[in-house]
Amino acid sequence: MPAWPDVRADFPILHQQVNGKPLVYLDSAATAQKPRAVIDALVRYYERDNSNVHRGLHALSMRATDAYEGARTRVAKFIHAADPAEVIFTRGTTESINLVAHSWGRAHLKPGDVVLATEMEHHSNLVPWQQAAKASGATLRYVPVLGANAEGGLDLAALDRLLTPSVKLFAFTHISNTLGTVNPAAELCRRARAVGAVTVVDAAQSVGHVPLDVQALGCDFLAFSGHKMCGPTGIGVLYGRRALLDKLAPDETGGGMVVSVDYEGASWKPAPERLEAGTPDIAGAIGLGVACDYLEGLDRAAIARHDSGLARLAYEKLSTLPNIRLLGPADARSGLVSFAFPDVHAHDVVTFADEDGIALRGGHHCNQPLMRKLGLTSTTRASFYVYNQPGEIDALVSSLQRTLKFFRG
Ligand code: ALA
Repeated sequence: MPAWPDVRADFPILHQQVNGKPLVYLDSAATAQKPRAVIDALVRYYERDNSNVHRGLHALSMRATDAYEGARTRVAKFIHAADPAEVIFTRGTTESINLVAHSWGRAHLKPGDVVLATEMEHHSNLVPWQQAAKASGATLRYVPVLGANAEGGLDLAALDRLLTPSVKLFAFTHISNTLGTVNPAAELCRRARAVGAVTVVDAAQSVGHVPLDVQALGCDFLAFSGHKMCGPTGIGVLYGRRALLDKLAPDETGGGMVVSVDYEGASWKPAPERLEAGTPDIAGAIGLGVACDYLEGLDRAAIARHDSGLARLAYEKLSTLPNIRLLGPADARSGLVSFAFPDVHAHDVVTFADEDGIALRGGHHCNQPLMRKLGLTSTTRASFYVYNQPGEIDALVSSLQRTLKFFRG
């Protein structure tokens, strides 16, 4: 394991007992904990600056507007967008992807077109494309995942066959929330571009864990959530190339996004305003900007080494448990591990771990089709982040040993 500072002191929530045991939080892929700096920024905003943005001329409104637009610039820098206007604030990954599926899909998809996704997509990057395909008459196809445990990641040879000029859009996850697979996002974007397809990258599990540069990736759209990267819940981002965003018809209309309105119709502002109707989550955006500062302060490349180092260590230690099925690749994985036992349901595993103060996740992880393909109904998932330490993996293994002893005798 690479050396890593103990940053637990930055996270107030971690200093508590659960069921009489010190909390071991291994569910950051679902939502990450928040450092004091983010919590303080939210309190400070509501105590000092709270006001509506863009339309006010008084001091508080100007402060709120500056802080909100400052957050946009901060997030743009975090993902290396060419222009802050390429950052659209949304409620999260799901809303970001739905925005593209509705607005871009309505304008561009027609019968005979193909939308390509992968078999490892979270429902939030799968169901919107099913709906867009149904509405437009386009066909939805999937890049297969390889191996009984999907240990091989995506079938890149099949991609050669699937990426035809009929593919108008390719939507894929950067990092799988169930397998932990890290997909070669830049290569996938390059190959999609070669056939003229627009790319949508689901970066929910990657942006807070690995250095990410949208220009180096060469993606057209990229979606993520603030709450998985130490930011507040309810705020997320759709990144889009400016040329695409300025042509995107808004999915939601109303205040703040119009140039002029009369009783017959309205005209839209350019991005980002045209895609942010109504009062946005001002405090959430500001908190997200502070989360970007926090993660950069820790060094994002070092975070990536730490998280994947913990996941590899967990993979190694968990593989000593009898009859465990570990999913995803042994190496080249991000900071999470999913596993299953043939004789103990994931919900029981999670409940027993909770008795030991350990927070895990059990279920289909919004990956029902992938689960079926792998012959499973559910898995247990341990996911790691900046505040986790190797000793917590030992606590997990001891807890699982206790669970197996109970069920197997
Ligand atoms: N998408 C989140 C997860 O994978 C909720 O747990």
